[in-house]
Amino acid sequence: MALRRTLRFLLNDRTVTLSAVAATDMLLDHLRLDQSLRGTKEGCAEGDCGACTVLVGRIGANGLVYEPVNACIRPLATVDGCHVVTIEHLRGTDGGLHPVQRAMVDHHGSQCGFCTPGIVMALYALWMEHPHPTEPQIECALQGNLCRCTGYAPIIRAALAMGDYGTTDPLMEERAQVGATLRDWQDGVRVDIAKGDSRAILPASVDDLARVLQDHPDARIIAGATDVGLWVTKFLRDLPLAVFISHLDDLRAVTETDDALHIGAMVSYEQARAPLLAHFPHMARYWDRIAGWQVRAMGTLGGNIANGSPIGDTPPPFIALGARLVLRHGDKRREMPLEDFFLDYGKQDRAAGEFVETIILPKPAPDTLHAAYKLSKRRDEDISAVAAGFSITVVGGTITAARMAFGGMAATPKRAHHAEAALTGQPFTLGTLQAAANTLPQDFTPLSDMRASADYRMRAAQNLFTRFWHEAQGTPATLEDVL
Ligand SMILES: Cc1cc2nc3c(=O)[nH]c(=O)nc-3n(C[C@H](O)[C@H](O)[C@H](O)COP(=O)(O)OP(=O)(O)OC[C@H]3O[C@@H](n4cnc5c(N)ncnc54)[C@H](O)[C@@H]3O)c2cc1C
Ligand code: FES
Ligand code: FES
Repeated sequence: MALRRTLRFLLNDRTVTLSAVAATDMLLDHLRLDQSLRGTKEGCAEGDCGACTVLVGRIGANGLVYEPVNACIRPLATVDGCHVVTIEHLRGTDGGLHPVQRAMVDHHGSQCGFCTPGIVMALYALWMEHPHPTEPQIECALQGNLCRCTGYAPIIRAALAMGDYGTTDPLMEERAQVGATLRDWQDGVRVDIAKGDSRAILPASVDDLARVLQDHPDARIIAGATDVGLWVTKFLRDLPLAVFISHLDDLRAVTETDDALHIGAMVSYEQARAPLLAHFPHMARYWDRIAGWQVRAMGTLGGNIANGSPIGDTPPPFIALGARLVLRHGDKRREMPLEDFFLDYGKQDRAAGEFVETIILPKPAPDTLHAAYKLSKRRDEDISAVAAGFSITVVGGTITAARMAFGGMAATPKRAHHAEAALTGQPFTLGTLQAAANTLPQDFTPLSDMRASADYRMRAAQNLFTRFWHEAQGTPATLEDVL
């Protein structure tokens, strides 16, 4: 097996080659401490504030793509073969300020300036896609960026105007060259690199990943690192051996058959957006409420499921849709309904050395109404107190099938079996839905924690049945309906 013992990436306009990298080394520390690029800031060190936003360009199925990421929780090992662009690299075609920077200056988008490099980088990523964005696009792009002193109105004004200052820049002109360099570097070999007693392996392919995990069943898989990154930065955990999978294109594919979408475990929220919403438009608002842009660009569907969290956002709507999971161990694969993967708190049906390979989402059945709900304290960049997915088939006014799943209501994401039984065979009326809601305590005994009390969780989950009914009728629920 051919091995590479170095990590190689483009940093702004130069090549960086490293021969000692620990699995726990983060990109932000490398930029600030080793490269003295201190324009990129550290605020929270947990992916929440966006002060550390940089762009990472990589060759994907559609060529070179740049995405905004949180350098604080982005392991250095994941940028092998990528182009890392920091705030220091921004400039306009005349060598002066970049259009985004000029707009921020002219529209007074900065006061203390701490958040500004991160905000400029997030807006830069937006400007690349939409030089003249709409206000909703701007709000969505800035969900992962916190500014505590300027206030967002001037920043949004700057973002609305940035395209007026220019729609091209030197990086766009260099794009073909950057793409060619990154393509040349695709050597298809396994990377095995270490520093001290922490080792990082980047398998050459999915088959190689299966081999590596068979040889090292205790290795930690790292996909987008939006969970694991925090174990390092917040809990100071060691990672003696980590297997990084973010470069594996085979795990990043979404394929479509006549009756299902097959989503590779390494597909990020942003990558999944278009194919998912094409078939399941009811998830559009829900999708935008998962984390912020940077985390959605890094975090994967496989990671969201494999982490087994009771408050992960994809399991409830996916279980309601009848999702199935493909797990792989060596050359063997097994498939199971997604709900069966979650055995208990912190316990999933996954053997050592096994990995999540694919999530299969059946295409919507005819006559089925779908909904996905997320209840959290903040609209943006917040973890769910309760999440829910409903898929209810109604034929001739009668409910012929019902699948409902909740997160935040038990130790695992879970189906509401009693409510499903109470709905099936009944007329599709508000009374039927409310009767089904009354069965929820038979399925769930939620906990009280910092996000919500047990009582709130139960009542809010029950009220979603009423909301679902009204949405199906095209009428908003009134307070009297839900209290
Ligand atoms: C600021 C912030 C906001 C967030 N907001 C949300 C939110 O709104 N909703 C939400 O649900 N989550 C949220 N998260 C949590 C996180 O982003 C998601 O759970 C994400 O999907 C995890 O995916 P990942 O690829 O980053 O996983 P990683 O961190 O790489 O891995 C997570 C776990 O899954 C395992 N794993 C990963 N891939 C595989 C695989 N293919 N096979 C087997 N095991 C695997 C890893 O070993 C690890 O145990 C947030 C996180 C941050 C930092
Ligand atoms: S420092 Fe706050 S998101 Fe990275
Ligand atoms: S300008 Fe001070 S935090 Fe945004």
